[in-house]
Amino acid sequence: MKVLLTGAGGFVGHHTLAHLLKTTDWDIVATDSFRHFGISARIRAVFEELPSEASRVKVVTHDLATPIDSITAREFGDPDVIINMASDSHVDRSITDPRPFVENNVALALTLLDYARTLPYLKTFIQIGTDEVYGPAPEGVNHPEWSPQVPSNPYSASKSAQEAIAISYWRTFNVPVILTNTMNIIGERQDVEKFVPLIINMLQQGKPVPVHAVEKNGQWMSGSRFYLHARNQADALRFLITHFVDTPHKYTDGLERPERFNVRGETEISNDEMVVLIAKFLGKSKPKNELVKFTNVEGTRPGHDLRYALDGDKLMGMGWKPPVAFEKSLERTVNWTVKNPIWISL
Ligand SMILES: NC(=O)c1ccc[n+]([C@@H]2O[C@H](COP(=O)([O-])OP(=O)(O)OC[C@H]3O[C@@H](n4cnc5c(N)ncnc54)[C@H](O)[C@@H]3O)[C@@H](O)[C@H]2O)c1
Repeated sequence: MKVLLTGAGGFVGHHTLAHLLKTTDWDIVATDSFRHFGISARIRAVFEELPSEASRVKVVTHDLATPIDSITAREFGDPDVIINMASDSHVDRSITDPRPFVENNVALALTLLDYARTLPYLKTFIQIGTDEVYGPAPEGVNHPEWSPQVPSNPYSASKSAQEAIAISYWRTFNVPVILTNTMNIIGERQDVEKFVPLIINMLQQGKPVPVHAVEKNGQWMSGSRFYLHARNQADALRFLITHFVDTPHKYTDGLERPERFNVRGETEISNDEMVVLIAKFLGKSKPKNELVKFTNVEGTRPGHDLRYALDGDKLMGMGWKPPVAFEKSLERTVNWTVKNPIWISL
């Protein structure tokens, strides 16, 4: 089977590449613009880890905000499956300068879906999404698939827009779209601006970690996230591709909506407790007020959601189990990052 993986030079993309090479015999075209936070060293790291599998990968550089010319289309070949993970992904940047950010995410979805509809034998087009499209989840609420989408910031709005375009191409052009929504992903070689590398970086420098929070009755509430290792999301994708590759999931197969799956993190943890846990793994445990510096989101961070949560029963009910446990994989990620400091000093 041939898979086209976009955003392959990104954090989640290169873990997906490694996982698919380890667990399948699929050929993979790994594409990235390498100018929106994609880094070729991530793909090199995969080849170094799995030298005997490298011949199954073709790396193609292309900015998907621009149309796919005939030469690039030939390079992409005739994929059986497309996994669209390319995106601008930094929430803060989407707030600082929304227009180019949103335009990029919308343009790349259009480019890839326009390409997909020229492929008569395409079996699956997976659009990678986030829990953030649903907006905040109040305490006790875990959004099921197809909850109403109320995105809080331009990043989540652009992810919601990618999904809406994909749904319209499923309906209008019969592209075999599957939507996935995933919670917060952790792992090695994540961009230094994201929360876990930021925590490691600050604690290594002996500085308190800034944590967004709201003040209620004199108490700081930092909100919470569910986390999963990038390998778990990659495995969920492998599972879905294997499950659906020979099963109809097109509009013309009589479905009312495309397939959609939540990929749930196994553990909910408050953002300040995440700092405490990472400090423990670093051997830098201290009282919380010395590790964390709460910053009031009111005034400093518009569009901030205190809690995200998804209901993961649909995917689990089909028999998928996350292969990597949260705490163990976080500890491994922290230890790996300490040994490879270049990834937090870029
Ligand atoms: N990291 C998370 O916690 C998380 C959670 C849920 C969903 N997601 C989604 O997973 C995907 C990957 O996220 P990530 O954390 O690896 O982000 P990332 O920024 O590390 O990777 C995104 C990749 O997309 C590429 N890209 C962006 N615009 C492009 C364009 N115009 N043409 C070609 N390539 C382009 C970037 O160069 C980068 O390599 C994104 O779609 C993101 O929305 C991430």
